[in-house]
Amino acid sequence: MSFKVRKAVLPAAGLGTRFLPATKAMPKEMLTLVDKPLIQYVVEEAVDSGIESLVIVTGRDKSAIENHFDISYELEQTLQERGKTEIFEQVRGVADIAKISYTRQKQPLGLGHAIYQAKDFVESEPFAVLLPDDIIDSSTPALKQMIEVFEKYQSPVIATMQVEGEAISRFGVIDAEEIAPNVFKIRDMVEKPSVADAPSDLAIVGRYIFTPDIFRAIETTTPGAGGEIQITDAMRNLLKERDFYAVRVDGVRHDAGDKFGFLKATVEFALKRADLGEEFRDYLRTLKL
Ligand code: UTP
Repeated sequence: MSFKVRKAVLPAAGLGTRFLPATKAMPKEMLTLVDKPLIQYVVEEAVDSGIESLVIVTGRDKSAIENHFDISYELEQTLQERGKTEIFEQVRGVADIAKISYTRQKQPLGLGHAIYQAKDFVESEPFAVLLPDDIIDSSTPALKQMIEVFEKYQSPVIATMQVEGEAISRFGVIDAEEIAPNVFKIRDMVEKPSVADAPSDLAIVGRYIFTPDIFRAIETTTPGAGGEIQITDAMRNLLKERDFYAVRVDGVRHDAGDKFGFLKATVEFALKRADLGEEFRDYLRTLKL
């Protein structure tokens, strides 16, 4: 039987400690690149890739996310009364973007544990996972590039990108064989290896397509430091039983959950904006760096 990927899970229950104090009372996923929250970029990527329904895994102090994707009667009415049609349509468009539901992760016990909270939503279908602080800027949505590969092999697919030098040790890294241009069959994966121990320069980035058997693999994964269940550990368990593929995604990735990554993304996104880019470029040129 051949399955389509129709559902997506967006884990957004982490504490965002790398971005404190901004994330003390505000979800990291609501940080904005120019004028759009990170999570909206990722919801749009999912929808543009053909996803029909999404679940966002939230935690305490994350209600801003639900409000963002909801109708805002008072705001919409005021905008209409004032004749601000264009911005009204933009605001309403966010509420109509997709079918979104929410589930809570009561404690931030790791990405594997966050994904597990979506078990009832997923039921028995393959599903995508998109990390909202990984922004991938590409002409074909990153997830769409992966779905094409999933549809061919009907096996889990993870996104990978080449990372040079020392930086590789901040990622999960795959040991894999390239079986078609930019498509790899995975032999093994390691979480945050030293440069010397890294099996390749192919880092795992925040997009995955899983089959429902990942939930069983998460159940049998022993929690690591701080009681957290790492998704890489669960994937390694499952790798013993089934094939896993990786796609070298074509695009630019920004780690927007990190202060430096966020600043770079902000500058790049602002420079590309038709309404702001030119003025912003001129302004940057005046800075005495
Ligand atoms: P990160 O490690 O980037 O997020 O997890 P974090 O833990 O919030 O951030 P730092 O490292 O403390 O700054 C990637 C994604 O997984 C979610 C996060 O919200 C983020 O979108 N996540 C992580 C959960 O939903 N639950 C968790 O227990 C951990």
